[in-house]
Amino acid sequence: MKIGILGSGQVGQVLAKAFLNEGYEVMLGTRNTEKPEVVKFKSENMAIQTGNFDQTAKFGELLVLATGGTVTEEVIKLAGPVNFSGKIVIDTTNPIAKEPPVNGVLKYFTSLNDSLMERIQQWLPDAKLVKAFNSVGNGLMYKPGFKGGPPTMFICGNDEEAKKKVTGILRSFGWEAEDMGKAEAARAIEPLCMLWCIPGFLRSERTHAFKLLKK
Ligand SMILES: NC(=O)c1ccc[n+]([C@@H]2O[C@H](COP(=O)([O-])OP(=O)(O)OC[C@H]3O[C@@H](n4cnc5c(N)ncnc54)[C@H](OP(=O)(O)O)[C@@H]3O)[C@@H](O)[C@H]2O)c1
Repeated sequence: MKIGILGSGQVGQVLAKAFLNEGYEVMLGTRNTEKPEVVKFKSENMAIQTGNFDQTAKFGELLVLATGGTVTEEVIKLAGPVNFSGKIVIDTTNPIAKEPPVNGVLKYFTSLNDSLMERIQQWLPDAKLVKAFNSVGNGLMYKPGFKGGPPTMFICGNDEEAKKKVTGILRSFGWEAEDMGKAEAARAIEPLCMLWCIPGFLRSERTHAFKLLKK
């Protein structure tokens, strides 16, 4: 299966390498394939293709959105909304505002009765969005290897088959998935990033992940 990763930042790069390692064909998308970070990534990962957002969205049978929250709408326009139609789209984004954190607490440009994922679903009504990977640092996204077993990735989305597919991907990446329901659940999942980041801002601790305990 071909994976198109929209976003050349840390998340895009980590997930591109992870999918390649799992045997997928991967293209990493950017506005500019000549930018030094992308050229360096390409030289270190020759088996991963790079392309502009439009080429990457066309290439991918499954797409990953790994773009800053404030620029995601712009990236979708550059990628061409039609190229998302009918495809599973893993949404890793968070609606982080431009203002700095307060006492280690990030500011969001959404409210508690709204989420970036729901906005993206409105921009891409025919895409099968699944929220995932937003509530953990990129260094732990692939095979995190905790002694206590696989951590929990909270996911949501309107398409049941898409969530099953992403659950399988998460399992192969060393995670267990917990399905929180439809897109509105992103109102609860996106703020988990705020919680995850607090120890990082306050104490430079970034080696944790969430786990749901059940009786
Ligand atoms: N960093 C983490 O550990 C982490 C963990 C969980 C979730 N997340 C979420 O994952 C997403 C990606 O994070 P990231 O740190 O990997 O990358 P990022 O720096 O937030 O985003 C990088 C991507 O955004 C694109 N971009 C920047 N400005 C743009 C503009 N004006 N118009 C169009 N595109 C623009 C860049 O394009 P170019 O390629 O052209 O430069 C690049 O591909 C974010 O929403 C973040 O909240 C991050």
